[in-house]
This record gives sequence, structure tokens and C-alpha cells, in this order.
Amino acid sequence: MEMKTFLVTGCAGFIGSNFVHYMLEKYPDVRLVNLDKLTYAGNLENLADLENDPRHTFVQGDIGDAALVAALLDQYDPDCVINFAAESHVDRSISDPGLFVKNNVEGTVNLLQCCKNAWYDADAKAWRAGKKFLQVSTDEVYGALGPEGFFTETTPLCPHSPYSASKAGSDLFVMAFHDTYGMPVNITRCSNNYGPYQFPEKLIPLLINNAKHHKALPVYGDGLQVRDWLYVMDHCKAIDMVARGGKPGEVYNIGGHNERPNLFIVKTVIAQLHERLGDDAISEDLITHVADRLGHDRRYGIDPTKIKNDLGWYPETPFEKGIVLTIDWYLAHEEWMAHVTSGDYQKYYEQMYKNR
Ligand code: NAD
Ligand code: DAU
Repeated sequence: MEMKTFLVTGCAGFIGSNFVHYMLEKYPDVRLVNLDKLTYAGNLENLADLENDPRHTFVQGDIGDAALVAALLDQYDPDCVINFAAESHVDRSISDPGLFVKNNVEGTVNLLQCCKNAWYDADAKAWRAGKKFLQVSTDEVYGALGPEGFFTETTPLCPHSPYSASKAGSDLFVMAFHDTYGMPVNITRCSNNYGPYQFPEKLIPLLINNAKHHKALPVYGDGLQVRDWLYVMDHCKAIDMVARGGKPGEVYNIGGHNERPNLFIVKTVIAQLHERLGDDAISEDLITHVADRLGHDRRYGIDPTKIKNDLGWYPETPFEKGIVLTIDWYLAHEEWMAHVTSGDYQKYYEQMYKNR
């Protein structure tokens, strides 16, 4: 599908800012309008190198603001709306579930309704050609796996955390707009991402930052929970492929069969930093087991057969390469880390980890 203009939401955050970079690098004539509320996770420094690129327009605002979203759809008439915007951290959802309903569920419903108003011709009873709504979702909506098996697109939704429940709720509304009104939609459900610009509340950047400062490396419970790690640019590539080639009404799982227990990730980061910085204080002695996350999902694992067979997607970045690229990036962007860990981050860290 020929797509030139995109309204992308939440793209001052981790995955979204990588997506903007990916698209501008790949397509010389693309236009991206980026709507982001700039919560604690949104950071214009992630987009600083694009300040003078006329193909990217940043708008600060909320996906729940109907007047603003309607005005942007009217002004830019995007071919595709891609919704990355969300509260994304499981631990924060345990402390404040209502915020996740507001931003993730209500925000998504507002976006859907605004797109329907702009794209559905009630007289002709038809959708304008060449439009699509893509919801960026997560494997967490499927719940947790035992030691065997994988999530497929037909695995029943069984979220456990307030975060994953809010993402599942959004997904159900996206599909309801397809099933009820015929809206052209796709949903992508990806596994754990890692890479540049990830906020250090998430495991890998938190470990890098703590280890560099010789601080304890908090491991929830026994540390044997398994996540299926994917380099963020491989996720971006998949989203672009689904936007252009995904069949309306379909869900696509995204993951690269890269399952690792958390303790493996922790030890890898320690070993890499120890070697690169030649710092003997960065050692496994920093590992500190702390109380487990409430309702902690034991294992995630994606079966990516559908996106591979239907769209030809595959992950290009092996974990051994991706983790080196990631650590390189954080070592080269100390100022970025210093900015995002000043102020409110310290309060967050205290609340989340003190006396845990
Ligand atoms: P993030 O927390 O880094 O970024 C979220 C962005 O959304 C921020 O820039 C924030 O300011 C913005 N935002 C939040 N609420 C908003 C609102 N109401 N209106 C406008 N902007 C708002 O998140 P991320 O890790 O980049 O995740 C992006 C999306 O991908 C999320 O929907 C998440 O559920 C999904 N996802 C993430 C992962 C992962 O491993 N990080 C994996 C699969 C899916
Ligand atoms: O699976 C996709 C999901 O991956 C996304 O939908 C979420 O937005 C994203 O945040 C991520 O969720 P996780 O909860 O898996 O990611 P997080 O980095 O918070 O934690 C990864 C694992 O590491 C998890 O088992 C919890 C554990 N952990 C995390 C932190 C922050 C620790 O042991 N210690 C920690 O300090």
C-alpha cells in the first residue's frame, strides 16, 4: 500500500522515537506528524537530531483530546494512524491502574472515534480508500506461559497486570471498530524491546545505569522469569510492514525466538560493562534479589510464524549484536541518561525500590 503521511502518537517515547528515525531514514518522501503528551516517558531529546527535518512535525498533546486529534486529521489527512502512545510500565500500573485506563483505553477509543469521523462517509456507507489504523500492542495481553509453548494470534487474551489489562482493553476496542463499523485496522503484539532511548525504569537501561554507578542491580524474585527480547529497530521494521501490507482486521505477533531468563540478561550486562570499562567494581556482587513484582508473569514467548509467512518479516539483529549496540549507545549518551535520571526519576526509584 502506498503510504506517505502518518499520524504517529507517543513517538517521543522509546519505540516511537526509534520508529520516527527508522521511517525518515528509509523513506525520503515520508511525512510524520508526531502527537505526544510528553509524560515522564516522553522526551524531545530523543528527537533532537530531527529538529530541522521538515518531514517530521511534533505536536504536544493528548490522544484523548478529541478536538486536537480531529484538527490534526483534518489538517494533515494521514493515510495511516499508528498508536504507540500509552503508559507502558507494569510496575507503575500496579501503583496507579486508573492512569492506565485513562491513557491506554480511553485515549485509544478517542483516537478510533476521531478516525471514524474523519474516514467514514456515512452517506456512501463507505470508508475512504487507503486509510488504516494500527494499534501497537504487546504480548502481555496473552498472559503468561508455562515452560512450553508460544503465543499465537489466536491465544486467548488473559492479561494479569493493570498495564496488560489496559492494553487488552484497547485491543478489544480496536477490533470492535473493525467488526462493528468495518474500520481498516491492524494490531501488532510484540515482545520485550531493547535498544537506544529506552527509559531507565525498564530492566536493561536500569541495569546499565546502576552498574555504571556501582549501585545494586535489583532482580525481582528468583530472576528466572523469561522474556523474549527483540531489538527495537526490528520491531520498527515489522510495524512499517504491517502498516503497508497487513490485511485489515488482522493481528500480527512480533518476536524473534530470543527467550532469556532475567538473570541471564543481568549477567550479560555486567560482563559487557566490566569488560568495556575495565571496572572491577562492576561484578555479579551487585546482583540483589528483591521482593517479586505482584502478579509477575513467568514467561513470554512469541510465535512469529504469521508475520514471517504473510509479510516476510524476520528479525535482523541477533541478541549478541543488539545488546552490544545498546550498551554502545548508552555509553555514548551519558548526558541523555543524566538528564532523564535527574529530578522525578530519583523519587520514583526511591518509592519503587526502597525497602523492597
Ligand atoms: P514509552 O513509555 O517509552 O513511551 C510512551 C510515549 O507515549 C511517551 O512519549 C508518552 O509521553 C506518550 N504518551 C503517554 N500517554 C499519552 C497520551 N495520552 N497522549 C499522547 N502521548 C502519550 O513506551 P514504549 O516502550 O515506547 O512503548 C510504546 C508502545 O509500544 C506502547 O503502546 C507499549 O504498550 C507498546 N509496547 C512496548 C514494548 C516494550 O518492550 N517497550 C513491547 C511491546 C509493545
Ligand atoms: O512484553 C512486552 C512488554 O515488555 C511491554 O508491553 C512493556 O511495555 C514493557 O515495559 C515490557 O514489560 P516487562 O514488564 O517485561 O519489562 P521490564 O523491563 O519492566 O521487566 C523485564 C523483566 O525484568 C520482568 O520480568 C521484570 C524484571 N525486572 C524488572 C525491573 C525493572 C527486574 O527483575 N528488576 C527490575 O528492576
